[in-house]
Amino acid sequence: MTAVPPDVPKKSPRAETLGGHTARQVLRLCEAAGLNGADSASYARTVLTALGPVAERSLDLPPPDHSFLSDDHTPVEFSLAFVPDADPTLRVLLEPGCGAENLAENGRTGLRVVREMAQRWGFSTKRLDELEDLFFPPDPEGPLALWCALELVPGGVPRVKVYLNPAASGQERSAATVREALDRLGHRQAFTALPEGDRHLFFALDLGDWEEPRVKVYLAHHDLSATEAAGLSRVGGGPGRPGRTEIKRFFGMAAGHGTGAADSEAQDGQDPRLGLRPVQSCHAFTETATGRPSGFTLYIPVRDYAQHDGEALDRAVAVLGRYGADPAPLARSLSAVTSRRLQEGVGLIAYLGLAHQQGRPPRVTVYISSEAYEVKPPLPAPTPRGPAVSVPA
Ligand code: TRP
Repeated sequence: MTAVPPDVPKKSPRAETLGGHTARQVLRLCEAAGLNGADSASYARTVLTALGPVAERSLDLPPPDHSFLSDDHTPVEFSLAFVPDADPTLRVLLEPGCGAENLAENGRTGLRVVREMAQRWGFSTKRLDELEDLFFPPDPEGPLALWCALELVPGGVPRVKVYLNPAASGQERSAATVREALDRLGHRQAFTALPEGDRHLFFALDLGDWEEPRVKVYLAHHDLSATEAAGLSRVGGGPGRPGRTEIKRFFGMAAGHGTGAADSEAQDGQDPRLGLRPVQSCHAFTETATGRPSGFTLYIPVRDYAQHDGEALDRAVAVLGRYGADPAPLARSLSAVTSRRLQEGVGLIAYLGLAHQQGRPPRVTVYISSEAYEVKPPLPAPTPRGPAVSVPA
């Protein structure tokens, strides 16, 4: 077990804090992902620092605000990115401005925290600064202002990503905001390269020491079918291009349709749509010469399409197996964040993602909730005649 560094608040049943809870999860997750004790301790402190004053907040109180970052409004979410034959990369997504008086203040706090990270680790925030007026208007609209994700790589210096809200100046302006932001960063043909979607959800930037920093655009797709999902990628040809059959198979496996066999659709003639929480797509741009994205990711909100987390884990393991990744670190990670049984709730595994970036092997990403505030109960077991009828309390 990794030793708890002295400045991580000790666990006491009555005085558990948001920061204490999430920092301990970080320590245990780091260990599960193969990081050493020094890196783990330093990343736990980094998360506490990024959370700021809400870290001290007792978990007996309600969440600091209605953070859209996770279902129970914990302003922290974990994820693992898997490639074959290597330890997974642990990432943590957080909302530094969580608990602010209003969204404008939330955004200012987020910017300040990212700039402090830039100072500390010596990277430039120039690309973020160039977009400040677009994403941080005086009177912003929801559902977020700024989120920050840290890739907890060995060495104690994380890779930093920033997520911004295209709807900051109003939902109706979000497409124009994304277009302008892409333009300013030199991606003048990028907007027209994107597929149709129902809503622009996030505009994201890699900051700091990345081999190929990306600009990413996230879209929501309501009522999407696997066949439609397979048609979303706008990545050009060549190796690393996500194949349609592959995307379809991933969609089916993650959503729990059939067996995940390539011909499952043919078997039952169905191409069911995901009608609850929308599927998300992400296109990544890394160069401005071709005008085309070099990366495509599909995210399936598995928690809305599974009965409980045991089922969600089975699907994750099946997908990992398909991509040659060892599922053991995932099982260890789930035990690192919670001691509850997987069948006792749904939502611990929030999303399953499949990422294709040109020139790299496909990556499977699994999003793990902190559940600091709440565990969503499992769905009732389906009866042979259909889902059980729930009796109002
Ligand atoms: N909680 C939000 C959602 O479910 C945002 C979010 C958090 C998200 N983690 C994510 C979206 C991972 C896509 C993938 O939509």
